[in-house]
Amino acid sequence: MMKATDIFDKDKYSNIRKPLSEASTLPGSCYHDSRFFEREQSHIFDRCWHFVGRADEIRSVGDYLIYDSPQGSLIVMRSESGVINAFRNACRHRGTRLLDGTGSTQRIICPYHSWVYSNDGALLRAPGMTNTTDFKVKNCHLAAVRLESWAGFLFASYLDHGPSLSAWLGDMPEYFKRYSSAEFECVRRRKFTVRCNWKFLIENALETYHTGTVHQTSLGKQQSEIIPTNGNWLCLRVFVDGKDSVSVLSSSDDIFPVQSHLEGKERTSTYFTNILPCTQFVFAPDAMWWLAINPVSAGETTLEVGSCFPARNQASDKFDRISKAYFDRLDTATPEDNAICEAQHLGNLSNLDHQGRFGAEEALVHKLANWVLDQTL
Ligand code: FES
Ligand SMILES: [Fe+2]
Repeated sequence: MMKATDIFDKDKYSNIRKPLSEASTLPGSCYHDSRFFEREQSHIFDRCWHFVGRADEIRSVGDYLIYDSPQGSLIVMRSESGVINAFRNACRHRGTRLLDGTGSTQRIICPYHSWVYSNDGALLRAPGMTNTTDFKVKNCHLAAVRLESWAGFLFASYLDHGPSLSAWLGDMPEYFKRYSSAEFECVRRRKFTVRCNWKFLIENALETYHTGTVHQTSLGKQQSEIIPTNGNWLCLRVFVDGKDSVSVLSSSDDIFPVQSHLEGKERTSTYFTNILPCTQFVFAPDAMWWLAINPVSAGETTLEVGSCFPARNQASDKFDRISKAYFDRLDTATPEDNAICEAQHLGNLSNLDHQGRFGAEEALVHKLANWVLDQTL
């Protein structure tokens, strides 16, 4: 383990800063040391945009979903006016957590002393508070957190002042403008707890080098190339020669139609798009899915996977049968990825100073390592 004085010493990381063919990987301590994890929290996660879900998941007034992260639990809720807001999931009286999971309610009632809030976060009633000096209901609105969206994807920022979502995403919205993103509906979420550092999961999602080994019998070997990006995103174009879709298992070929506005390579490519630090949007010709990676501790991470399709697909009487092939792909490949990331986490624990070397297919893993160092050192 690096000494306390060394872990944030820039000179210790100079071999990661080299060009890909000469560079080394991050040492095991960057994945295991709680000081490094805390630095990532304060320098990355306190400052970035957090993907919380899709607007179509909370379609009606009063619909809500809860987003939990080390930065604090949020209620993301559609108000009377149709606007979606994010609030701290904490009562303004003595701080009790108000809601869990997903649901719909016109009034949020605190389970402790029954303070009542509207669906836009305003305190409506606070029984028993009439004798409290200078207490005003109107001053006790649930604490708002910034919420912005692109094409129905909702992001929260815990910073009161910081870059807008559009500044954060850079040229990503332009790159994917032909996709029917605003018409997607998120029809399923699945959550995993993975015993590894968050970076192992996102690094795994940024290279196809492992696919011929880890997914040998499920997805098979995939090819990839890097897409140049401006802004806080990285992108890998993934393809398999002779196949339009990598959205289903290699044994399955009954897929949804290719989205009509796509052109050229878009019709046979899948773009694994990492919004830094660790949200992945996967734009495929026939579907879209997302990975929301959320660090709990240096050695534990939650991974949520959401499946989205253009709304019109759901009208088809084949929807249940075809969509099952997409879920089967995620339910097979995701545990394969999670298991290998847990093995990598354990292996790195046995030698915290170990640094490996990168292959040519791992350019985005190298980029991510350098981005993390840019933020943390
Ligand atoms: S803590 Fe919510 S009403 Fe008391
Ligand atoms: Fe994988």
